[in-house]
Parts: sequence; C-alpha cells; structure tokens
Amino acid sequence: MSEPIIRVENVSFSYNPSAEKPVFALQDINLEVFPGDYLVIVGHNGSGKSTLAKHFNALLRPTQGDVWVDGMNTKDPKCVLPIRATVGMVFQIPDNQIVATVVEEDVAFGPANLGVPEEELRARVDWALKIVDMDAYRQRAPHLLSSGQKQRVAIAGAMALKPKVLVLDESTSMLDPAGREEVLKAVRTLNKEGTTIVAITHFMHEAVEGNRVIVMEAGRIVAQGSPREVFSNVETLRALHLDVPQVTELAYELHKRDNTFPADLLTVDEIVQEIERRLEQKERIGGYSWARHYTGQ
Ligand SMILES: Nc1ncnc2c1ncn2[C@@H]1O[C@H](COP(=O)(O)OP(=O)(O)OP(=O)(O)O)[C@@H](O)[C@H]1O
Ligand SMILES: [Mg+2]
Repeated sequence: MSEPIIRVENVSFSYNPSAEKPVFALQDINLEVFPGDYLVIVGHNGSGKSTLAKHFNALLRPTQGDVWVDGMNTKDPKCVLPIRATVGMVFQIPDNQIVATVVEEDVAFGPANLGVPEEELRARVDWALKIVDMDAYRQRAPHLLSSGQKQRVAIAGAMALKPKVLVLDESTSMLDPAGREEVLKAVRTLNKEGTTIVAITHFMHEAVEGNRVIVMEAGRIVAQGSPREVFSNVETLRALHLDVPQVTELAYELHKRDNTFPADLLTVDEIVQEIERRLEQKERIGGYSWARHYTGQ
C-alpha cells in the first residue's frame, strides 16, 4: 500500500491547554488518509470535525501527538507553507472566500500571489475552471452568481494552487439542492482525476460519495469503514443521534420485516434495482407478496 498523504498519530487537541481544566476537542485520534481517498467525516455539532480538518493544513497544531502531511510534521514551522500548498481548504460560506470582482481573477489570486509565472497561471486557471464546469463564467462578476456557482469558483481557486488534498468543511451546507449536486459533481471529478478529498458533511446521502467514512463523537473517532460498513450499523448511528441515508433507512426497515431483503443498500439506484428484481421474480418485498398482489391469489 502507498504511504499515507496525511497521518494523524495519537492526536489530542485543546483550545485552552494551559487552563486549570483544559477541555479537549480531539482525543487520541489516529487516522491515515491515502492518496486518492475520498474520506467523509460525519458527526454531531461540536464533535470535533472542523478541529480535526484544521489539523490537516496546520491551521491548528496538536496539543499532544503529531500530524504528518506528505511526510512533513505540522509542528515544524518550516513546513507550514509547503503543507498549506499540499492541502487546500474550502469552507461553508462561498461569499467569504471570494476576493476579486471577476471570476478568473478570483481563481488566479492564490497562485498569482505565490508568484506563479503568467503562462503557467493561465493554464492553471483554465484547468481549474473547466474541472468545476465554470469555464463559461470566467468573465462574470462572482457576486452575481448562484451560491453553487460561487462555491465552485471557491473550489477552482483552491485547486489553482494544485494541492494534492482538498478539504471541504460543509461546503454544500449553504447551497440549494441543485447547487449541492453541482459541487458534488465537481468534487467527484477532482477525485477521479487524482485529488485526495476530505469532506465534512451533515448530509448522510453525501457521505455515500466517499470510499471511507469516519464518524466522530465528542472528539473521538467512534466508527469508521466503507459507507456500506458504517451505514449498515443503523442502530449504532441512531444511538449516536445521527441520521442514516434515507435509502439505507428504508432498506433497513424492509430487512426487519423480511430478512431476505438486503439491509445495506446505499443509493436510490441500488434500491430501485433490488425492488425491480423482486418484482420480476415475483419475490416478496418487506413481507408483502407482490405475486399475490398481481395474481390476486
Ligand atoms: N475557537 C474555538 N475556541 C474554543 N473552543 C472551540 C473553538 N472552536 C471549536 N471549539 C470547541 O471545540 C469542540 C469541537 O468543535 P468543532 O468546531 O471542531 O466541531 P464540529 O464537529 O466541526 O461542529 P459543527 O458540526 O457545528 O461544525 C466544540 O466543543 C467547540 O465548542
Ligand atoms: Mg464544523
């Protein structure tokens, strides 16, 4: 297996470490993110998701333990800039991330500040705008765009710095469903083209996008695995007061009535296929005999 691009070793973090009774926002976190991963982080408000994500690009440094990014320790002051170039971040509110009055200038802002030469700069802006499908809007004023479009410009801006990892901290939470889908599509494309993704979300159906999910609770990782592994533990997630994707919930309820129905379906397509197959075979669905329904017997 390849080397992890991010390695979190025994990390605990407190915002008030020198207080008499420090409160720990992260406790004993161990995690490896590998090149090409699409890691999704879910968990309740205040469970430590953003605090963990900020450790990935040295915005925060561990109180105990170490975070390594592409072999660089985030505690080493010399490594801060190369770490920030390796891990890009996109946040929740698109308006706060826009700095220029024309889309292409906004996307060029980061690399231009780093002194990327003109020709290379143009190539990067072209690539970044294409990958988020905002090429046609390059001359527009960002403040006139929809929220989904603005967020895609913010992603293009982060990608123009050519990071190996893109961290999205609830980047879809302020968007309408269409905007959310546009952003997810852009992120999917980036991941396919090789960018490692770390996405924090409250939307469980978005968690299904990843190849790995971690569930956080009170500063700890309490569950992890593939989306199928994590979300098939419906009872565990409910005990943590977390939702499961609606499709999984439906599959789980059908499975409870009829254990031949798979409990771990994740997408609308999967459940539609399973139901269609059962209709064709005239098999039971959730204890209901469709054969009887059709034949009246
Ligand atoms: N700047 C800060 N100073 C002090 N405590 C903080 C700070 N930021 C977060 N915390 C605390 O650290 C804990 C973890 O917060 P964090 O923002 O990482 O959670 P989160 O999982 O991202 O929550 P949300 O879903 O609301 O974004 C919480 O108890 C929070 O109150
Ligand atoms: Mg947060």
